Parts: sequence; structure tokens; C-alpha cells
Amino acid sequence: MHYLITAGPTREALDPVRYLSNRSSGRMGFALANAAAAAGHEVTLIAGPVALETPRGVARVDVISAQEMFEAVKAALPAADAAIFSAAVADYRPVQPSAAKIKKSAATLTLMLERTPDILGSVRSVFGWHGFLVGFAAETKDLLRNGKEKLERKGCDLLVANDVSQPGIGFDSPENEVTMIFRDGSARPIPRMAKEELARLLISEIESELRQSCGRV
Ligand code: PMT
Repeated sequence: MHYLITAGPTREALDPVRYLSNRSSGRMGFALANAAAAAGHEVTLIAGPVALETPRGVARVDVISAQEMFEAVKAALPAADAAIFSAAVADYRPVQPSAAKIKKSAATLTLMLERTPDILGSVRSVFGWHGFLVGFAAETKDLLRNGKEKLERKGCDLLVANDVSQPGIGFDSPENEVTMIFRDGSARPIPRMAKEELARLLISEIESELRQSCGRV
């Protein structure tokens, strides 16, 4: 099987030296890529700017912005059987990044932002891809309700929701604690564990879902 996995943050340029981004380290996505490759699968890892080594046996495509991640996913998706979107893609970017470094002058500075492309949200509706689709949801409240709504809206087969308001899990931490939400509306909480262990568990869950649905693994 061929997995496409997105990982890490994106950076949206304000000027040549500044950007909007978030605290994603890429650890969750790299652990997933490593687990999928170790289980014998082909893996394409589309990574935002992170300081991590490429896992053995993984084909890595480096990107910076949400637009670049969108283009890389679009190009790689047709070859994939399953796709996992663990990247923390910026939802907004400056409308008009400055070509020169912004000088400090007035006491306040107003930024005009616009939406970035919704990559996960494009997979079914724009790219017309039919493989096994796994989304993540980074929530700070109403984990289950928001997770279920994201699964439906983005056409996912499985949604992995994490409460990123909890200290010690989620962004830039070695551990995570998630709830898996399935298409039939059922949910399974997974206790806190190392991201590497969680990644192995998620890859084996995806394999068992695929085996049940179409005997593809
Ligand atoms: O990288 P780490 O430090 O290991 O941290 C892991 C993590 C916290 C980043 C990861 O577990 C996680 O929650 N990833 C999703 C982060 C996120 O941006 O979630 P969201 O609820 O805003 O987005 C929902 C889904 O849409 C995600 O699958 C996201 O990849 C995708 N998305 C979002 C916006 C966008 N423009 N395009 C997208 O594809």
C-alpha cells in the first residue's frame, strides 16, 4: 500500500524575514511515516519546515507554505491508497506579503489576512480522490462534537481528534492523547502515549479498517 502523510507546520510570509506559523514540530506526522514504512508500506511524506530526520524508506517532499503543501498533495495523491493529514496548516496568510522588510513606524500595524486552501477539504470535492482518508482535528473544546463535524464535512473515513489545550500533549510534545472518530459516529478514546506508539496503533487501525472494507491490505 502507498501512504501519503502530511506533517509539521506551514509558514505564511509577511515579508522576506517574517512569517505566521504555529508550534507543530512534525513529530506526530514523522512517527506515522516511520510506522507505515516499518510496516512495509510505501510512504510519501509531505513536510512543512521541521528539524527532523527523514525516516528510513520514506520519500520526503519539503514545503514551506500552505499553497506549496496543497500543490504537493495534489501531485502525490493519485498514487496513494491512504492519506493521513497530520500537518498543522495555517488557515490564514497575509493577502499581500511585503517584498521588502516591513519597517517599524506607526504604533500599530494592521495585517489583512485571507484563507489558505483547505487541503484536507479539497481531497474529495476538488481532487476527486477515493482512497482511505484520515484527518486530524486540533481542538480546545467540544472535542467530540467538533471532530464529528470535521469528519463529515471533509469526507474522512477516520478522524483523529486531540485536545491541544491539555499540557504535555499535541503540539511540540513527545506524547499525544487522542480520540478516534469513525464514519458510523462511534468514538474510541486512546490514552496518552508516546507519539511513536500512537503512530503504530493508528497505522494498524487503518489497516484493519481497510481489510474490513475491501480486503486491500
Ligand atoms: O507536529 P506535532 O508537534 O507532533 O503536533 C501534532 C499535531 C498537534 C499538529 C497533530 O496531532 C494535529 O492535531 N494535527 C492537525 C492540526 C490542525 O491544524 O488541525 P485543524 O483542526 O486546524 O485541521 C483539521 C484538519 O484539516 C487537519 O487534518 C489539517 O491537517 C487539515 N487542514 C487544515 C487547514 C488547511 N488549510 N488544510 C488542511 O489540510
